Amino acid sequence: METLRTWGADPSRVRTKCCAPTSKGQTHSPFEAQGKPFATQSKQECLCHEDFSLMYTQAAAPESLYILMMTNATCAPPQAGSPFSLGDTIVNKRLRNTVILCLIVCLGLAALCLTQVGLAQTSSSKTPPALLLGTAWYPEQWPESRWEADLTLMQKAGIHFVRVGEFAWSRMEPEEGHYDLDWLDRAVAAAAKHDIYTVLGTPTAAPPAWLTQKYPETLRMREDGRRDEHGNRAQGNWANPKYREMARKIVEQMAKRFGHNPNVLGWQIDNEYSEVSYDPETRTQFQQWLKVRYGTLDNLNARWTTSYWSETYTAWDQIPIQTGYGNPGLLLSWMRFVSDTWRSYQKNQTDVIRANCDARQFVTTNTMGPYDGFDHYTVLQDLDLAAWDDYVGEGHLNPVLNGAGHDLTRGFKQKNFWVMETQPGFVNWAGVSNSLDKGEVRAMAWHDVGHGADAVSYWQWRSALNGQEQYHGNIVGPDGTPVPLYSEVSQVGQEFAKAGPALAGTSPKSQIAILHSYDSRWAIQWQKHNRQYEPLEELMSYYAPLRAIAQSIDIISPAAPLNQYKLVVAPGLNVISDGVAKNLIAYVQNGGHLVLGQRSGMKDDDNSLRPERQPGPLAALLGGRVEQYYALTEPVPFEGQWGSGESRLWAELLSTKDPETAVLMRYGKSNGWLDGQPAAITRKVGKGRITYIGAWLDPQTMAQAAKWMAEDSGIQTPLAGVPAGVEVNPRYGAHGVVYILINFAKQAQTVNLPAPMNDVLQGGSKQSVELPSYGVAILAAGQ
Ligand code: GLA
Repeated sequence: METLRTWGADPSRVRTKCCAPTSKGQTHSPFEAQGKPFATQSKQECLCHEDFSLMYTQAAAPESLYILMMTNATCAPPQAGSPFSLGDTIVNKRLRNTVILCLIVCLGLAALCLTQVGLAQTSSSKTPPALLLGTAWYPEQWPESRWEADLTLMQKAGIHFVRVGEFAWSRMEPEEGHYDLDWLDRAVAAAAKHDIYTVLGTPTAAPPAWLTQKYPETLRMREDGRRDEHGNRAQGNWANPKYREMARKIVEQMAKRFGHNPNVLGWQIDNEYSEVSYDPETRTQFQQWLKVRYGTLDNLNARWTTSYWSETYTAWDQIPIQTGYGNPGLLLSWMRFVSDTWRSYQKNQTDVIRANCDARQFVTTNTMGPYDGFDHYTVLQDLDLAAWDDYVGEGHLNPVLNGAGHDLTRGFKQKNFWVMETQPGFVNWAGVSNSLDKGEVRAMAWHDVGHGADAVSYWQWRSALNGQEQYHGNIVGPDGTPVPLYSEVSQVGQEFAKAGPALAGTSPKSQIAILHSYDSRWAIQWQKHNRQYEPLEELMSYYAPLRAIAQSIDIISPAAPLNQYKLVVAPGLNVISDGVAKNLIAYVQNGGHLVLGQRSGMKDDDNSLRPERQPGPLAALLGGRVEQYYALTEPVPFEGQWGSGESRLWAELLSTKDPETAVLMRYGKSNGWLDGQPAAITRKVGKGRITYIGAWLDPQTMAQAAKWMAEDSGIQTPLAGVPAGVEVNPRYGAHGVVYILINFAKQAQTVNLPAPMNDVLQGGSKQSVELPSYGVAILAAGQ
């Protein structure tokens, strides 16, 4: 627009604004380019005016800003892969003199244009910062005249990216096949003028009313057989071919438009996959899926033991959808089908994005931490990075629980991840949607980074004036001016900028892995046997003390490579496929220490009981087994290597067979069966070790058990001697280690360092740091 003003033209007559595709490796001056396809190494843009068109391009060197005037015949947005041809455009001889004049003026004004105009592309000429602060922004909810004020406030707060578009389908496609992305293009460009990148959300979590009205089958069916309806979100039928066709078309439009836009960092597919459909067509797809997996009904019947309760199937279309209560083989198959269907739903979109986008643009989706509605290892395998929405809800940040959420997410791709959404103070959906305390939001941002986040993004910038989430926390109020939290967000922005260079290329590195399996979680939840038994609680009972010792834990799939770890803990690995068993056995034989928690090794890959006792395929290696499990109404005492304590909820009576298998803990007097029997056993296997813990250890005993596991496995504490309540998060890189220290205690604490370290935020070399409650220190130590 500013360019047009410079040229004395009326900006209101701009009809379209479009990006020309770039082709790498060629740079021509406009003169050299005559008659040849125009291409440049960097960004290009065109503004189509009713009287003439401008295409301008800025190559890497600022002095090579070219502005070309074209006839308005070229005003259609260019097709991807068909660069502008100057031979086609500057043919109008009557315009030649004007063109030459324009070019001379243009070259003279080039430097001026660069500073004044900014070309709405300022962020593109830079590498994105190593640590990114972002916010969800909904430009479609506001008049364009407001955008500039919002973006100015964002820039002042040090915000580097906005996530845009994930619920804006009705704005992008107001009628079937009638696409309007111009506003989005303008929003991306407006943000770029403020050095703010964009992450584009595909809008498929919120289909337009016309779509589901015209194609009712695109609405998902709830489990009770009712169709969902318009008015909320996630009402689309994720398995329906028509819905997928419509989704693909809108995503294709977006990808073609923004796939080469230097200001677009990447893509978020849909939003928080969760709602599935139980319609008859989906059921048919499930039956087809079963056919592929099992081949024959005889095989399926055998593996699900359908002779039980006369469940035997004689035709594929007899097989129902069951959730919660049903044949365990069927239940597990349904969840795997759900996972595969989310994967193909996602692939429908990622394929079209990747076909049209620069490789530098990442593709992700926003998951929900411990949510187990699908197998995240299955679905995320096709994405470039993992991202999650990290909300505290009611109460305050529990750094151990929240840290495990980060570590789980980092484990999906086994690399750094993004926090795509987090609460600016408070949410609107908790029992009590209290605000985090002053300083807690900042501490939480650094907690995210400590666990491997490279981006933290607030949901949301400003609440829509109407809509279901009016009470949610935000950064500016309904009047468009900052809320009190704005200053804390700005502090995070400044600190990210300051610490970014030190943290660039660094990531957490763990000596310990905790294995997490959706199959096992589901299997236990379907048949808890003790209603209070929560598989994630069991996982956390190991995680908390081990994390305190090792200061970093990877939470990963049991199928992941394990050799890099000194200790691998598998709490509640109920379902063990033959492949996973092999992975675990090889790990121990190669010198690793494997610790199995209760309920491990009970089921096979079809959720059938294994015909051996627990831990099934690992029993021989252990040289012992589970003789019987007992759900407990009263805690059972135990004592041994780790002191004495009590097991609650669950106790497994163990036995040893191999003379090398040692008993670590024994139960005390309880139900008679357990009295004096082994509660934890271990066997050394060459340089490796396998341990089985059959009791639910109380926190004190677990702390001792963790100490034993760590000592036996040679685990070192990276930064020892830190007071309780201070969380230590090391991130390692080519230049050494950077420690992120956060004081979650209510009182101030002093951390004495083993050697002087560079204080990244405050500056100077420090031998000790003083941390107030929620205080943060970033300390860099060379290698
Ligand atoms: C989720 C959604 C957002 C918003 C927030 C509110 O994470 O993805 O659109 O509804 O919850 O906390």
